[in-house]
Amino acid sequence: MRVTIAEIREMKQRKEKIPMLTAYDYVTAKTVDEAGMPLILVGDSLGMVMLGYESTIPVTMEEMLHHTKAVVRGARRALIIGDMPFMTYHISVSDALRNAGRFIQEGGAQAVKLEGGEVVAEKVRRFVECGIPVMGHIGLTPQSIHQLGGFKVQGKTEEAAERLLKDACVLEEAGAFAIVLECVPAPLSKLITQRVGIPTIGIGAGPDCDGQVQVISDILGLYRDFVPKHAKQYVKLAAEIETAVANYMAEVKSVTFPTMKESYAMDESLLESLSATLSSAFKGQD
Ligand code: KIV
Repeated sequence: MRVTIAEIREMKQRKEKIPMLTAYDYVTAKTVDEAGMPLILVGDSLGMVMLGYESTIPVTMEEMLHHTKAVVRGARRALIIGDMPFMTYHISVSDALRNAGRFIQEGGAQAVKLEGGEVVAEKVRRFVECGIPVMGHIGLTPQSIHQLGGFKVQGKTEEAAERLLKDACVLEEAGAFAIVLECVPAPLSKLITQRVGIPTIGIGAGPDCDGQVQVISDILGLYRDFVPKHAKQYVKLAAEIETAVANYMAEVKSVTFPTMKESYAMDESLLESLSATLSSAFKGQD
């Protein structure tokens, strides 16, 4: 049985912390799911960490659906949230609804996430009316990176903090079942978390959020050149992969791999008769 929205809400009520992690492909989703992760986000961070784009802005609906389907095939228990990419929910409510519906109907996700507070409230309300659970996302919203002027902590002035508090309340009122708080000062996240009845899921938002989300490549140490301040590497996989690849190359070159342990044997009598057939064939050519 998949984790339900009701179960996620109950976790906040029980004060049980809610872990969430991104995944973008079948095998990773399967492993994350088998580890017991209740929420998997197919984030549009896909663009940067899996597809090599410079930001999340070029990510398309088709790319998100392709990866969402793979994650859904891999994870049997976690609740899967599909992240709506840039410009797929910005133009009209009907356009946005159609795209949100594709995540559920074609992608097989159980919920969608979209960035923004009050400005997206009308869309959130409509999705929820149509039976599509919505996770909000405020604070640093990477799809607005050009407007925000870079990857910066948000809510640092009184006006900006009040705006975030209001956005969180409006999202709750519109029917969102949870809200991601990204790069928000820890004390402000605590205030928002106390103020709203739905779970807050932080990333760079301090320990008092109801849950935490991380990008999987960050916690696995898949990138060596950049580690965000809010990430913790639980393993340094890039180094381990490099060692494994170098060992494999060395063993292929020195013919220490494969051995007969990794090869397939053949029936001796079949081999003998095959050799006999081949040598008589060669004799015929002489
Ligand atoms: O795209 C993503 O991975 C996200 C998380 C960082 C919340 O939006």
